[in-house]
Amino acid sequence: MKKLNNRHILGITYLSPDEISFILDTADSLKEILERPIKKVPPLRGRTIVNLFFEPSTRTKLSFELAAKRLSADTVSISASTSSVVKGETLIDTAKNIEAMKPDIIVMRHSMSGAPHLLAKHIDSAVINAGDGINEHPSQALLDMMSVREHFGRIDGLNITIIGDIAHSRVAHSDIIGFSKMGARVTVCGPATMIPPHIETLGCKVVYNIHEAVRDADVVMALRIQKERQGMALFPSEREYARVFGLDSSIFSLLRKDCVIMHPGPINRGVEMSPAVADSDRSIILDQVTNGVAVRMALFTLLLSDSRED
Ligand code: CP
Repeated sequence: MKKLNNRHILGITYLSPDEISFILDTADSLKEILERPIKKVPPLRGRTIVNLFFEPSTRTKLSFELAAKRLSADTVSISASTSSVVKGETLIDTAKNIEAMKPDIIVMRHSMSGAPHLLAKHIDSAVINAGDGINEHPSQALLDMMSVREHFGRIDGLNITIIGDIAHSRVAHSDIIGFSKMGARVTVCGPATMIPPHIETLGCKVVYNIHEAVRDADVVMALRIQKERQGMALFPSEREYARVFGLDSSIFSLLRKDCVIMHPGPINRGVEMSPAVADSDRSIILDQVTNGVAVRMALFTLLLSDSRED
């Protein structure tokens, strides 16, 4: 494969297994740049990338910014609170005005599912979805797949268990779709109120008992409870959630010896995961963060490769 079939990165839904492998291979080769004393290479010199973040972010925003800088692209970031959206400007008007300044890629995070898709319909720049509502977070799933493939040397045939607020997690949705496409067996687990109906249609199995869910797992990924997206309390208390679904030493003792722990962040320590589990030598959580920069460098490189002049 020489180029992506997609002009935008709106969801893992739209990527074929070959495209996912191509992105992961590209990220693997670019990762070495992050280990150099001078972490900058020239391929995207003269390119402009705008980060449009309408929701808070630490990892994703910084990671996209660093990825652009490592490739020598110019990067500008705008947040909702500092944009004219607060004065009543529509999303499309904001995007069209940004596009009038000729960026090459717009990276967008928004609380509304489908917002980046809407943007992609109205502008010519490439759009990368950095997380839309409860829908998808494709670059997170790609960095998760990269981290698993890096650790195990493969994704095909592995058992991936995802625990937590599956209903409100765009990471869960992208991971279920991505890992299934790449041949893994995905199991989801959480309170019944946080497991959406028909989630199996994305390619996963549902297990409500955490002991059963983790027993044969190669990877256990915990998710944050997305309180900001829940209209009502979906469990009695954080303490109750931690007691039943939290990854603590008792659950940890049930895991296979080679099972790794993942979390997309931000972690609520003591709720979905104890500090001892988060910081254990089985945790690859910080590898996920490092790989996030490499994956985003790969996305920029591949999306702009068609029109590169060098
Ligand atoms: N994983 C993730 O999306 O984290 P941020 O919300 O900090 O970007």
